[in-house]
Amino acid sequence: MRSYAKSIALYEKTRRHLAGGVSSNVRYASVPVPLFFARGEGARLHDVDGNVHIDYVLGNGPAILGHAPRKVIDAVAASLGEGQLFAAQNPRETELAERLCGLLPGAEVVRFSTSGTEAVLMAFRLARAFTGRDKILKFEGHYHGWSDQAYISARPPLNEAGPANAPVPVAGSPGMPASVLGDVAVCAWNDLDLLEQTLERHRGQIAGVIMEPVMVNGGAVLPAPGYLEGVRALCHKHGALFICDEVITGFRVGLRGAQGKFGVTADLSIYAKAVAAGFPLALVAGRRDVMDTLLDKGVMHGGTYNGNVQSMAAGLAALDILEADEGKVYVDLETRGTELMQGLAALAKKHRLPILVQGMPAIFQTFFTSGPAPRNYREAAAACDRDAMLALHAALQEEGVRAQQAGKWFLSTAHDKPVIEETLAAADRAMARVARA
Ligand SMILES: Cc1ncc(COP(=O)(O)O)c(C=O)c1O
Repeated sequence: MRSYAKSIALYEKTRRHLAGGVSSNVRYASVPVPLFFARGEGARLHDVDGNVHIDYVLGNGPAILGHAPRKVIDAVAASLGEGQLFAAQNPRETELAERLCGLLPGAEVVRFSTSGTEAVLMAFRLARAFTGRDKILKFEGHYHGWSDQAYISARPPLNEAGPANAPVPVAGSPGMPASVLGDVAVCAWNDLDLLEQTLERHRGQIAGVIMEPVMVNGGAVLPAPGYLEGVRALCHKHGALFICDEVITGFRVGLRGAQGKFGVTADLSIYAKAVAAGFPLALVAGRRDVMDTLLDKGVMHGGTYNGNVQSMAAGLAALDILEADEGKVYVDLETRGTELMQGLAALAKKHRLPILVQGMPAIFQTFFTSGPAPRNYREAAAACDRDAMLALHAALQEEGVRAQQAGKWFLSTAHDKPVIEETLAAADRAMARVARA
């Protein structure tokens, strides 16, 4: 048995002064306690007890190049002596903005922020200012950050969520004012008829329709063929902006994100996480006429750390690697991810465990279900045997593989063939354990 004695002791000590012992609630999802790591290197993390983990959490997505990617940290290190923040512009912003506009679908202009949550809020404000409408339409099971305006129906208890064809908005946390629910319409994802009905119900009121183009947070569910194009058309028919939250999918499922993969272009897009390979950077990219409201209509967007020197340096260095040879790294990432997905599915079959592996090679989900692949949040919630998921998570951790407790697996370019093979050998032992239990 692996020992976590030092993590347990540190957690007890940390709780005395750091509320809850963590800096993000997401980090509670760990056994036996939120673990403490000493360092990360490539595909591996080393915890304070000396356990080594092949890491498929990757900071919940950003570490697309693995931990401590040499070229990125060298570029950031070289920039440190220049200063961090000038409350003014620095030339790296010019270069990064230009390169992103040359690359990303629909990116006529970009604006930098620091976290995905903030960039989502900027997109909401832009959509409202541009359309003169107040409501945002979002989908059940989609996560767009923890703000009052966005943390609605991200993971609603089904007994509070209303009927499947007309869900009611559910606040995700105590402390959120009930008034925010009035500015949100919620719809089931992957169903154009329901979207049309919802847009009709809120005719003339919806400023923007936001979604994860692949519902990663709700179970790595892919959009049905034609769905994204259909959403875009319905948005425009109803005078609403189509907003793609590519915080996870951007720079992960392909060089041009999910929009590049599925051949659709949003009016506004939000990127964060992988864009700077682990450094804090987020952005809204989109139509010039919408983004210009920042200047023309005086739409307020601020942030002390926006465009800081080190995040810009990290973004540029990450882009150098990701863009090389027209995104060659993504070909390898897809090959490795496919091997891992297929390998895990084959192992589940071998051990007679009802595990469904779904998603995309660079970000996928393992579900315990023998039913059909879920298409939306409610189906994913029904398909998920949480106890079995937790048992598999614990068994994998014991064998040296760290996946998200909820069953998500992120891949990086550091997960090469030997790492995938080592992972599958560990997963074989872990599933044998779960099957025995
Ligand atoms: C799709 C999506 N949007 C927005 C966010 C919020 O980003 P951040 O945690 O950087 O605030 C997340 C975070 O996981 C996310 O997955």
